[in-house]
Amino acid sequence: MKRKVKISRIAISTGGGDAPGLNAVIRAVTISGLNRGWEVFGIRDGFNGLLDPASFPDGGVFPLSKQSVRGITHLGGTILGTTNKGNPLRFPYVGEDGSVHEKDRSDELVELLNKLKIDALVTIGGDGSLSIGKVLASKGVRVVGVPKTIDNDLDKTVITFGFDTAVSFATACLDRLHSTAESHRRVIVVEVMGRYAGWIALNSGVSGGANAILIPEIPFDLSKVKEQIEARDRAGSLFSLVVVAEGARPKGGSISVVSREPGRADLLGGVGEKVGRELQALTGKETRVVVLGHLLRGGSPTTFDRLIALRFGSAAVRAIEEGRFGVMVALDPPKVKYVPLHLATKRMKSVPLDSDVVKTARDLGISFGD
Ligand code: F6P
Repeated sequence: MKRKVKISRIAISTGGGDAPGLNAVIRAVTISGLNRGWEVFGIRDGFNGLLDPASFPDGGVFPLSKQSVRGITHLGGTILGTTNKGNPLRFPYVGEDGSVHEKDRSDELVELLNKLKIDALVTIGGDGSLSIGKVLASKGVRVVGVPKTIDNDLDKTVITFGFDTAVSFATACLDRLHSTAESHRRVIVVEVMGRYAGWIALNSGVSGGANAILIPEIPFDLSKVKEQIEARDRAGSLFSLVVVAEGARPKGGSISVVSREPGRADLLGGVGEKVGRELQALTGKETRVVVLGHLLRGGSPTTFDRLIALRFGSAAVRAIEEGRFGVMVALDPPKVKYVPLHLATKRMKSVPLDSDVVKTARDLGISFGD
């Protein structure tokens, strides 16, 4: 819905796992806002700066100036800080008996934003932060969402920023692992992040010349991967690279979860070790496991991520100026468009099994373990 209102003060929040490009969005929103004569504020650590101000020496909410966003486009991380433990809809608190519970603090959050006279909020995040944005919008807050995640699992946008950097790094790692795998005639299993979607594994695996790619969308059977490895051996290629998404699971089996905690999404991991152990037993080949983990989230954003992050930030400010609220900015090449938050957060974007990249992988003889 479009309804132009007078804007004086806006606030920015970054929530969930960090992703390269966050600082570029913050810079674009801040400068574009300041240039319109608005005041721009940063909220620390998702919404914790508002909900738990005593934890921050500066009170948790602070003004952003051109100086504070100077030279940050190329920096990884977020100058605002972030958390995946501060979901206002499931805010963790310790009960009298010492156990941890969750409560909904969204009404309090709305009041706090009103008290600070924040006219519009830019929430930069993944499914969690954008779902929070959707609830805040339903309670009257003027919200514009910006899609961030290295996992690329947000629907209604062709891509999220952070994904390209993560895939580029994973591909560079596969390039390096090739030579050592070949020299030792080993199998190397590479576990990558991505939560319940296989985008990072698929795109880096195909680009980096993996021989098998295991993704959550295709439950795997390791006897098929064994066949692939042995066929390569027979053909004289005595090494193999297997990319495993952290959310991948065997046929009839379950996802590997490291920890479950109140107020946050499950932490996944460990499937790489399991796959490595089993492949070594099945093939008799020496196997090593590399977990790329948070390395995928760090470092400088690629040019692609910088540019879409800057475009998203500027588009968010234009949305506020035009009175478009309750929306997420989205990439629909060559354009940036706006989609309602309730549609953007309806479902996760999985890898479609008929996607061109999956077909390309199959044409190249890469196994999905199916
Ligand atoms: O959503 C981004 C992501 O990096 C996932 O790929 C991963 O499962 C999760 O965050 C890890 O979260 P944490 O920052 O809590 O380790």
